[in-house]
This record gives sequence, structure tokens and C-alpha cells, in this order.
Amino acid sequence: MIESSPVVFVAGARPNFMKVAPMLRAMTSAAAPFERVLVHTGQHYDAAMSDVFFRELGMPAPDVHLNGGSGSHGAQTARVLASFEEYLLGCAALPRGVVVVGDVNSTMACALAAVKLGVPVAHVEAGLRSFDRGMPEEINRVVTDAICDLLLTSERAGDANLAREGIPPERVRFVGNVMIDTLVHQLPAARALGVPAAMGLAPRGYALVTLHRPSNVDEPARLTALVALLERLAAQRAVVFPTHPRTRERLERFGLIERLRAHGAILLRDPLGYRENLGLMADAALVLTDSGGIQEETTALGVPCLTLRSNTERPATVTDGTNTLVGDDLDAAWARVLEVLEGRYKRGGVVEGWDGHAAERVAQVLIDAWR
Ligand code: UD1
Repeated sequence: MIESSPVVFVAGARPNFMKVAPMLRAMTSAAAPFERVLVHTGQHYDAAMSDVFFRELGMPAPDVHLNGGSGSHGAQTARVLASFEEYLLGCAALPRGVVVVGDVNSTMACALAAVKLGVPVAHVEAGLRSFDRGMPEEINRVVTDAICDLLLTSERAGDANLAREGIPPERVRFVGNVMIDTLVHQLPAARALGVPAAMGLAPRGYALVTLHRPSNVDEPARLTALVALLERLAAQRAVVFPTHPRTRERLERFGLIERLRAHGAILLRDPLGYRENLGLMADAALVLTDSGGIQEETTALGVPCLTLRSNTERPATVTDGTNTLVGDDLDAAWARVLEVLEGRYKRGGVVEGWDGHAAERVAQVLIDAWR
């Protein structure tokens, strides 16, 4: 029997959608005894940053839209917090539970609003730590984990981090990686699109680049050095560079965009849909990124990934997978690029729980806890 008080799933920004989609599906398959409600906070709002994912991932349209929008961290977090609280208070009965994913501002804001109203909250992808408080996402992770009732971890380092922080083990469940569920589910359709061939690119004949972190794109000197690295790479392999809105704005502001546009071997693109990006990633010779999720997706695909950061909250991608942190030293980064191109780079293995079935385990935990 379906009980009246629902479970609310929150999604706010691009990296959330591919995590929420398999959980909604798994809750339906598991015939969860409660209604599901999907709330979109509106942190990301452009069609290319949001709508395309709903379409491709077969997600239901959000039941509730909060219009969180862009802004400073404080303003964005406050707007989402206040509007999610208002939504919760307007419900006929408070939800049975709220599920938040990842580490974006919407994750922390909605967790805070819900726990203060006494609603149980589950955090999916809990326990990850970069140990770098200069990263806004690290603050979001630490705060969210401190206040949530159920902490569902994606890799074993998450369990160890939470134990070290004194979180009682009964609040923690290892479930594996829900984002990899989506990858497994979507890979055939992504390959069938034939995106590399349509761009004139041979398998392993190109590199895929994504950059959006403030630490890489907000400083003119750093972004200029990264553009020089891309030019160096483009002398060896075509470079596909889909640009996040933040990055595009900085490239324009710092007068770098024309340099990239003029380069025959650098293919500058608007943000890609999920399948286009996955199809490109799967056949790339290497991926150069500062994303969190792409470090995991390349490990699942066995594609070499060089991460332009000096730390990662996802250590399994380095110890078990295909990822290497290349930090700030772009000469060291170049040495790694050569290792990949010359076939000397490590081959990764599989990570526990990244098997395409994590969302089923999440559904079981939620049903057991909240039925
Ligand atoms: C956010 C997340 C980050 C995640 C990233 C993925 C936080 C703290 N950061 O960073 O963890 O890796 O999403 O994309 O939550 N903009 C648009 N259209 C949009 C959304 C944003 O043009 O749909 C522009 C706005 O000018 C905005 C800027 O991009 O100011 C940055 O967006 P914001 O949501 O603040 O952070 P992200 O850098 O996307």
C-alpha cells in the first residue's frame, strides 16, 4: 500500500541529474511503499545544463521547481534553503524523508532546511573528502554529512572518513556509485549516436577536455597557462573542449576565446548532453578535466584521465582506476600526457560497488529505513 507522506528527491545542478535518475527508477522497480516527489532547485537552469539531462535520462518532469538560480554562494544557498523550507511547510504532511545527492550548494541547502523541520535526510555519495576547505564543495560535503540521518557511501574511503569524524556506523551504508548505474544504462545509446565519427574523429584519435572549477578558470594567469597546455596537446591530437558557462565567460573576459577558436585542432563546443559527452569520453585517447564525476566515469570506462587538481575526494579513481592528479605543475601534466600517448600509462581496474546496481541498494536502504 502506498503511504500518503512521500519521499522527496532533490536535484539542483548538472552533476545531480545522472545520480537521481537511477534512484527514481529503482524505487519504482522495488515497488517502494511511498510516493516519490522530484524537486528541482533550479541551481542550473539553462536548457544545456538541465533540460537535456531530463530528456535523455528518461526522468519525469520535476514535480516542484524552486528557481534557485545563480548568485554568490551565500545568496544561492540562502535562496534554495528558504524556498525548499517554504515548499516543505506547504505540504499537507511533512515528507517521510528527503534524499539529497552529491556536494553542490543545493545539496547542503535542502539538507539543512529538512533536518531543521525534523524530516529525516539521506545523503547519497556521502563521506567523500578532498581535505581542502578552499573548495566550496568540501564545505558542502562536511556540513551535509554532519546533519544527515543516513549516509550512503559510493566508495570505501567514504566509510573510513565518516568513521574518523566520529559518525556512528549505524548511520552509514556502503551502496556503491549510482552515477555509474546511469553510465552502464546509457552507454549503448551513447555509442550509437556516433558523436566522434560525426565530428570527424577516430577512436583514440582525440582528447576530451572539461574545465569549470574556480581554481582553474577564475585567474587569468592559470587559465592562460591551461590554454597553452591545450595548444600543446592539440599539436598531437585533436582536442574537443565543451565549455561550461562559467569557463566560456572567463575565456571571453580574458581575451582567450579567439585563440582557441582560431586553432584548427581545437573543437570548442557548447556544453554537451549526457549521451554526447559519454560517447566522446568512451572513445577518447585521454580526458583532461577538473570535474568530480568525470574522474569516476573515466575509471568506469577504462579511459586515462588526468585531473587538473592537486587533491581528489574520489581516491578510488587514483588507487584502483585510470585517474592521475596532475595538480598545478603543467610540465608534470605534459609528462603524463606523453605517457598516455606513448602507451606507457597505467591501466585501471574495477572499483567495488560501481557495478550498475547501486540505486537498487539505495532503494532497499530507504525502504527499510522509512517504510
Ligand atoms: C556547480 C557546483 C559544482 C559542480 C558544477 C557542475 C556548487 C558550489 N558548485 O558549479 O560543484 O561541479 O556545478 O556544473 O554547487 N550558469 C549558467 N547557466 C546555468 C548555470 C550556471 O549560465 O544553468 C553560469 C552562471 O553565470 C553562474 C555560473 O555559471 O554564475 C556558475 O554556476 P554555479 O551554479 O554558481 O556554479 P558551477 O560553477 O556551475
